[in-house]
Amino acid sequence: MKTNDEVFDVFPDLGSMAAAAARRFLQLSLEAVSRRGVFTVALSGGSTPAALYSLLAADPHLRLAIPWSKIHFFFGDERHVPPAGAESNFRLANEALFQHLPGETLNVHRIHGELAEAGGAAVAYEAEMREFFAAHHAVEEGFPRFDLIFLGMGADGHTASLFPDSEGLHETGRWVVANWVAKLKSDRVTLTFPVLNNAAEVILLVAGEEKAPVIARLVNHPEREPRFPVQWVAPRNGVKRWLLDRAAAPCFPPAA
Ligand code: 6PG
Repeated sequence: MKTNDEVFDVFPDLGSMAAAAARRFLQLSLEAVSRRGVFTVALSGGSTPAALYSLLAADPHLRLAIPWSKIHFFFGDERHVPPAGAESNFRLANEALFQHLPGETLNVHRIHGELAEAGGAAVAYEAEMREFFAAHHAVEEGFPRFDLIFLGMGADGHTASLFPDSEGLHETGRWVVANWVAKLKSDRVTLTFPVLNNAAEVILLVAGEEKAPVIARLVNHPEREPRFPVQWVAPRNGVKRWLLDRAAAPCFPPAA
């Protein structure tokens, strides 16, 4: 289902949604590598993407077909914790994906959540991104152009670590910021909306019934004045693709 510039695909369950995301990842990686010799992707955190990450490493066809050494993995956000911390988004991707690719050359640019100050981690990550994207001539309108950014959505409509009522929502110049999340009483490090909205494709992986009220609101009552941070994801020259499981999107008609 396509409305405006957004594409919504609904799947019976998390597994079929992850399989669709993996197929799209493969397709975009092959296209980018054949065009420019490199594929840039930002991974999302939380729990939903674990099924996708595990599949990318476990499926024999994907394992062989994905051009691993030509991919540069970044992160859309990170918690202010060490890389082995239970809350770490890097740990999630490392344990579900990277550790299962021992023979592959991997290019992983993680956010250093272990640094004492989240602000320092944001500054360091932005510097690393600026060096990489400039060297690969992938800076457009002053921001990096990712080939693909995976995002999730919280039950409050947040995405990456851009939470309702948080300062980071309003950042228009920086690529990466530290963002204090009052309700979690913790700092996060996150890409900003100008970066998310400069991507060639954004895939939102959303599963679970707790997300259904926001999805229904987004689809049935799109607000003129966006109410949820995830509505501010609007690639200026790219695709916004929602991959949802049925539990998160009971409001959608059954697939044709
Ligand atoms: C994070 C994520 C965050 C996540 C949503 C959904 O660091 O937590 O980047 O934006 O995608 O909170 O999380 P679940 O997949 O666990 O529902």
